[in-house]
Formats: sequence, C-alpha cells, structure tokens
Amino acid sequence: MTTVTVKASRTYDVTIGRGLLAQVGKEAARLLKGRSAAVVTDSNVAPLYLDRVKDALEGEGFRVCTFVFPAGEASKNGATYLNLLEFLAREQITRTDGLVALGGGVVGDLTGFAADTFLRGIGFLQLPTTLLAAVDASVGGKTAIDLQGGKNLAGAFYQPLGVLCDLDTLDTLPPETFADGCAEVIKYGMIGGPDLLAKLEQGTFRQDPEEIVARCIAMKRDLVEQDEFDTGARQLLNLGHTIGHGIEACSGYTLSHGKAVAIGMALVTGGAAAFGLCPAEVLPRLKRLLQRYDLPVETAYSSAELYEKTLSDKKRTGDTIQLVVPTAWGRSVLHRVPVRQLEDWITKGAAQ
Ligand code: GLY
Repeated sequence: MTTVTVKASRTYDVTIGRGLLAQVGKEAARLLKGRSAAVVTDSNVAPLYLDRVKDALEGEGFRVCTFVFPAGEASKNGATYLNLLEFLAREQITRTDGLVALGGGVVGDLTGFAADTFLRGIGFLQLPTTLLAAVDASVGGKTAIDLQGGKNLAGAFYQPLGVLCDLDTLDTLPPETFADGCAEVIKYGMIGGPDLLAKLEQGTFRQDPEEIVARCIAMKRDLVEQDEFDTGARQLLNLGHTIGHGIEACSGYTLSHGKAVAIGMALVTGGAAAFGLCPAEVLPRLKRLLQRYDLPVETAYSSAELYEKTLSDKKRTGDTIQLVVPTAWGRSVLHRVPVRQLEDWITKGAAQ
C-alpha cells in the first residue's frame, strides 16, 4: 500500500492499494463527524461495487443512501446535478455528513461539484474505479459538470477529504477503459517523467499497477501543491487536452476522453516538431508508445473542424491559447500561441 499526501487548501491522503473499498467505512468514520453517507455512483459501477461500499459504511454505523445515475458523459449535466442536490435534501443530509463518489471521472466530477455547493459545502470521499480517475480526476479537487456550450464549463476547485484508490477495481475494467487511463499515464511521462516512459516502454503494467499509479499521483500532487487553482504549472496536466477536447467535441462526445487526449498529444507533438520546438524523433516514439497501449494517434476530422471546436475550450485567453508542448522525450513546457496560429499548428501536426 502507498500513501501520497496532498497539501492543498485541504490536506488529505490518497491511499493506493488492494482491498481498499472494504476500508471506506473506517476512513469515513475517521473523516466525518456525521453518521449519514450518500454514495453516488453510476449504472456500470453500482452492480460491481455498491454493495461492498454500502456494507463497509453500514458496518461502521453509517446510515447510507444511494444515488445511481446512467453511466456516461451525457449524464454529467445540470439535470443530474440538480437531481442529486434534491436527493440530498430529501435524504436530510447535513453539513457534517458526507458524499462518497464511487466510480470514474464523471462520478467524481459531478459528486465533487455537488459536495461543494450542497449546503455551501460538505465533505466528500473519492473512490476512483477507473485508471483515468485514479491517476487524474480523483486527485486535485477539480469538479465540474458539462454545459451545452462545452465540457466542464461549470465547476469549482473543491478538494476531497480523502481518496481510496482500490487497485482491485482496475481488474474489472474493459480493455478500452483501461487504455483510456493509459493515455493519462503516458501524459505524465511526457510532461516530466522520462523514467516513467522507460517503464511504460518496457511493458504493460496492468498486472501490477501500484508503482505506476502512485508515481502519477505523486507527480500530480507536486503540481497541485505548486498551483492548486490552475494558473501556472498545473496547466502542464493539459498536455493533449486542448486539441483533445476539440476532438471529443467534433465526435459529439462519442470518442472517449483518453483516446481524444492520445490523438491530441500526437498532434501537438507533431506541431512542436514542425515549429522546431521538439526533436523530430520524439513524435514516432510517442506514437509507438500510444499504440502499444491500444490508443489512436490520428483523426479523420479536418484541421478547420478541430480548430473551430478547440477554440471553445476554456484555455483560451483573448487572442491566445495555452498549449502544452513537448520539447524533449519526457519534458514539456507551457507555450502560448496566437489563436490564428492554432489551425496551422494542427495542420502541420497532422502532416508529421
Ligand atoms: N485534470 C487536470 C487537472 O486536474 O488539472
């Protein structure tokens, strides 16, 4: 078992290991004054793990209520959010009680935003059940729902009371969902972990993920501690995400986040090579690594389509947009480009 402590506006532990869902009762009893817990999960995760979590909480004397919504990004909207708040009010959840987010990024983002806003803030625990949520979404306090205008456009920074990352849950992930998380793991390697990339190049880590997951979480901890509110160093975590969000939007959110980020990383690295910011050999090596983890490296959407959708991303500031650009194997920097250059960047990136 590994523990990574995050010291942000709230200090909390991220515990990584096996069998941790069964420990949630003890952890909640330690962290919450109240004895009611609302477990929020989705229709994929509920049949697998909800009973285990409920039993663990009830075993420590909690009254447990459960809110289960249809799995998928389409549920991360205002309607589900308001339904959840109304549910919490009906269940008479008070400020000393807590929410428990059991699931992937959608569950964690929605639950965190509800926790921040219900009664002006109640505590919540994150129990990530996907690789993507384990290494990224469950740590660092970004919470959000999507608006019709775009992804994650309403949200808050609100840190959890604790995160239990039960690696047993990764065993039941479909290969495609595991691959989505691998895109984020490769992202960590590209922003500052040549040693992590070396491990990933050696072979798949699915059988024994603890070291890799803990390494990614420690990297995220370091960035969150430097820049909790995402105005500087934390933005490095957006490698591949700016164009990736454009790709997701072009697909009407039918392409998964991880796959879109993988393509986004390849495109931005190609653009960096074309503009002379990154050695040419980095892109083919990155593409080989992404493909090794069953991730795509190109898209059929045109540069014009991608440009239009990417511009609605919130990383735009006036006439410029923040890109994260690899400058070497295992090193990336923040690089602001004029908005009008973005289409050229995507075109050149795709041509590499
Ligand atoms: N997912 C990127 C961040 O937490 O900043």
